[in-house]
Amino acid sequence: MRHFLADDDFSPAEQDTVLALAARLKKDPYSHQPYAGPRSVAVLFDKPTLRTQSSFAAGIAELGGYPMIVDGRLAGIGDRESVADTARVLGRQAAAIVWRTFAQSALTEMADNSGVPTVNALTDSYHPCQILADLLTVRERFGRLAGLRFAYVGDGANNMAHSYLLGGATAGLHVRIGAPDGFQPDPAVVERAAAIAARTGGSVAVTSSAHDAVAGCEVVATDTWVSMGQQSTGREAVFVPYAVTADLVARAGRDAIVLHCLPAYRGKEIAADVIDGPRSAVWDEAENRRHVQKAVLVFLDAAARGEVVTGVD
Ligand code: NVA
Repeated sequence: MRHFLADDDFSPAEQDTVLALAARLKKDPYSHQPYAGPRSVAVLFDKPTLRTQSSFAAGIAELGGYPMIVDGRLAGIGDRESVADTARVLGRQAAAIVWRTFAQSALTEMADNSGVPTVNALTDSYHPCQILADLLTVRERFGRLAGLRFAYVGDGANNMAHSYLLGGATAGLHVRIGAPDGFQPDPAVVERAAAIAARTGGSVAVTSSAHDAVAGCEVVATDTWVSMGQQSTGREAVFVPYAVTADLVARAGRDAIVLHCLPAYRGKEIAADVIDGPRSAVWDEAENRRHVQKAVLVFLDAAARGEVVTGVD
């Protein structure tokens, strides 16, 4: 059974296929045939959501399926019901499971017991659906991915930073993380990403200088300084030099675009004139969640039926 639990669950060729399918689905929302796509999909949330819930619900409906939205607190996953039992039950009702939760290990336990494709809708460690949406957005703007320079500045130890490293390396990007000491990515993830980059022609670099990270790059991305589940107290001051301001973006390439997975805190990690300005691609990025997630669900559903998605372009 194939799952999408972290960005590097897709090989470079598979990621490319998923992005091509997403681009096709964006042009024609009903063009996933000849692949069936999953019908009933359980979509579970243990953390707040806007884009993820709405984009999965709309996307599953467009595939001809039904999104069963489950509030994790109501079900009591990991408390009233063990993760493994939840997986066994939902796996008998749904053709796929999508879960936003805290621990990556819980998501892995869900996948190990569900018997159906299981998708990461954000954990503390990774946010791979968001990175696919970002990659689709970059592909639309630049017509390619491999070889582009992609800078992420801010909290380098969070789910977005880790997913940019893995998913960006898979796409052959030159991924640069600019983050303060103490908030740099997990070295094990950097190592994993570097190994992927060595195969794809990309590269990964971590620096504590926001200026060095963005210099000359085609994409500047950031994220909240306080992720869901974290306490804001005392966290934010260290990130101030990493704010995406017009001055910082001026150091990027002439045609650079700016990404933010949202929700955004204007005046903190990103200036209002940047996110609301001409370089911002954040609304395309938010829309693209739906298209890439449909492609992921179709790809995994096909794999579960022993089919390989090919010939998409
Ligand atoms: N790092 C953020 C991403 C939100 C989509 C969080 O986990 O809250």
